[in-house]
Amino acid sequence: MDTSEKILTCRAAIAWAKNSPLSIEEVQVEPPKAGEVRIKLMSSGICGSDDHVLKGEFQMNFPLIPGHEGAGIVESIGDGVCSVKPGDKVLTLIIPQCRECSSCLHPKGNFCEKQDVLPCHGSMLDGTCRFTCKGEKIYHSFLVSTFTEYTVVPEIAVVKIDDAAPMDKVCLISCGVPTGYGAAVNSAKVTPGSTCVVFGLGGVGSAIVLGCKASGASRIIGVDINEEKFPRAKALGVTDCLNPQNFKKPIQEVVMEMTGIGVDFAFEAIGNPDAMISAWDSCHKSYGVCLIVGVAPLKSKLSLEATMIISGRTMKGVCLGDYKTRDCIPQIVTDYLQNKINIDPLITHQLPFDQLHEALKLYHAGKAIRCVLLF
Ligand code: APR
Ligand code: ZN
Repeated sequence: MDTSEKILTCRAAIAWAKNSPLSIEEVQVEPPKAGEVRIKLMSSGICGSDDHVLKGEFQMNFPLIPGHEGAGIVESIGDGVCSVKPGDKVLTLIIPQCRECSSCLHPKGNFCEKQDVLPCHGSMLDGTCRFTCKGEKIYHSFLVSTFTEYTVVPEIAVVKIDDAAPMDKVCLISCGVPTGYGAAVNSAKVTPGSTCVVFGLGGVGSAIVLGCKASGASRIIGVDINEEKFPRAKALGVTDCLNPQNFKKPIQEVVMEMTGIGVDFAFEAIGNPDAMISAWDSCHKSYGVCLIVGVAPLKSKLSLEATMIISGRTMKGVCLGDYKTRDCIPQIVTDYLQNKINIDPLITHQLPFDQLHEALKLYHAGKAIRCVLLF
């Protein structure tokens, strides 16, 4: 049956307000307008940024449908859409690529001006929404919303991937994998024999570890307050695990003592300003590079000792691994299919969508690296 021009009714998870439990509801999903794509989701990861959303740390409009790390199949397309067609396997993109703005046109930029993360309006690009529930308008998150059986996204926030992609897994390549792996291999360009420290060993931090290891780092120090993360982190390539709560002194001093000189590359993958400072202070004072991958709460500030910058250290923010998303993300899927990168160890749990609450429980208890929801 051709559903392309029709409003679809399906199940979706709605956050009616910040800090309130998600409820699975019947929602109506409008057909895509010009330049938009309607997707039948196959899987979605639960990412740290979704947790920031649910806690209200992004100052988003509620009620909304969260989720952004999605893999699905195009159900229908609006007028003018030419990069995907119904039946294509696709990934949703939290950072779009419009190919027209100053970021997209610059060889190094990837933070497309059409993004809806900072700030976040919660609508499509024309300012309207495609979801309703019980007659009420429901907002989108980050232009994508993936905790739903069907979603509508702008064409610039979706990309076609290899037909052979296993759809129960590749959702991680929509966000967590490029964010972490890309921070190490593409942004920092971690060098063989180098020493790295990774703050936060969740989904993103684990993907950073994969990237450091693939780049030939000889020492990878992992820092996390949840020691349950340590065995899996070691299996991925972390050589030394540190829990800051086990030390009386600041963890950066411990890293300094362990390395003697500080690390070549420090990554922050928590979204905690104090950990960002610890990462910075862990770097070699002359050539160390500190990469900020975690999203800090809005309006939080970093307080650095200003004289410590002159010696040459670098601090760099990195979003989605500095990849221009539509250009680069399909290649990561292909690399996965060709066994050049293995994302499987990052997927510790897979649950059907209706067990979303169980999945969130696993996330909050720190039991999962990534729990994938299956539709
Ligand atoms: N010190 C050390 N580790 C911490 C601390 C802390 N103060 N607070 C939390 N952690 C650890 C948690 O125990 C967890 O293992 O950080 C990890 C965060 O992982 P996830 O919750 O799985 O989040 P993830 O999806 O990896 O995202 C991390 O990157 O892209 C951003 O928005 C995302 O800011 C988020 C960050
Ligand atoms: Zn752009």
